[in-house]
Amino acid sequence: MATLQNNIEIDHETGGICLFDKPDKSIKLHPLWLRERANGPNDFDPISHQRLYEHSDFPDDLRVTKINASGLDAVNLIFSDGHESQIILGDVKKELGWQKNPESPPLPKSWTTRTNEKQEFDWETLDDPQAMKALLNSYFKNGYCVMQNTPTHKDALKMLARRFGYLRETNFGELFNVETKPDPTDIAYTDAALASHTDNPYRDPVPGIQFLHCLRNEVAGGLSTLVDGMAIAEQLHRDAPNEAQVLEEVIVRFRYEGPSAILEHYGPLIERDHTGLIRHIRLSSRVDYVPALDPETLALFYSGRRRLHQMASSTEFQINFPFRAGTLLMMDNYRLLHGRTAFNGKQGHRHLQGCYIDHDGPDCLYRLLARDGQTTWVIREE
Ligand SMILES: [Fe+2]
Repeated sequence: MATLQNNIEIDHETGGICLFDKPDKSIKLHPLWLRERANGPNDFDPISHQRLYEHSDFPDDLRVTKINASGLDAVNLIFSDGHESQIILGDVKKELGWQKNPESPPLPKSWTTRTNEKQEFDWETLDDPQAMKALLNSYFKNGYCVMQNTPTHKDALKMLARRFGYLRETNFGELFNVETKPDPTDIAYTDAALASHTDNPYRDPVPGIQFLHCLRNEVAGGLSTLVDGMAIAEQLHRDAPNEAQVLEEVIVRFRYEGPSAILEHYGPLIERDHTGLIRHIRLSSRVDYVPALDPETLALFYSGRRRLHQMASSTEFQINFPFRAGTLLMMDNYRLLHGRTAFNGKQGHRHLQGCYIDHDGPDCLYRLLARDGQTTWVIREE
């Protein structure tokens, strides 16, 4: 075998390479996998970073025939079809998870009332890359963040939310107003308490991130409540694993029917992402319809769902805080449950505005910040 520096050698069995890491970690990399990571000028467009070829252009029996170190972190590969290009070992190791990737947003860390560290950020400081990075770190770790000192004119939320992503309009409009009003189309538009819930599980796709922006608050109650859905799902797995399993497996129908929209969508109450992390909780007492499964399964389902609701309203898991004029809450609607305590609408005016954006907004902003130090989301590519 031709051993070169950088702990890399041709694997003659597969035609790929074997990459070693200290002291006893190694991986065999398929020749096509390597070819798709080759990043010379004939491989990727320098602006869009999109590949300049089709997968079907390559022969099935492609092999690496020669490797040459071409720098501290770069290796030149010559393939059996004559193509010569380089791979960056640091990029490969980041993709393999062998090295930390500074571009990747932090992983979520579940919290309870005891462990929660509520951080507040001053809107006026967010042009500073370090301040924006601290905010995004907190958001990705905790699933929410609170900003103060935002402008409070009506519809300012459009500008505020666009700092983080593109607005997701719904049948409630680009923005929805959370204030008491006659003939409400949603219980949110009354002064009643709202139990912990996730928004709009009946929508396809379910809105990723919710903003709530306080324009005015003259009432004593109406505290905003938050619960980490990841934490209560983890607790359910510890307390009643068979019930938690049923909540991951049973597909529930969610339905909204209002004056101008009938919406249905399906999903489990607890859902994991492709890495196995609990990422999506669907919990909304008023809009869920479980299928007519056998009584044994439903007994587990109802018991598990009851436990989730009990945890979501307990002081062990539920934090609360007041909204004052200029408070802006950004929360992951897949992970966090939100609600509010009751208030007396006759005491005065309480006016919040809300809207949704997709998850990829803050994710993109974090990556731009890591790459370019760019703190605003203003790019609209043609
Ligand atoms: Fe809500």
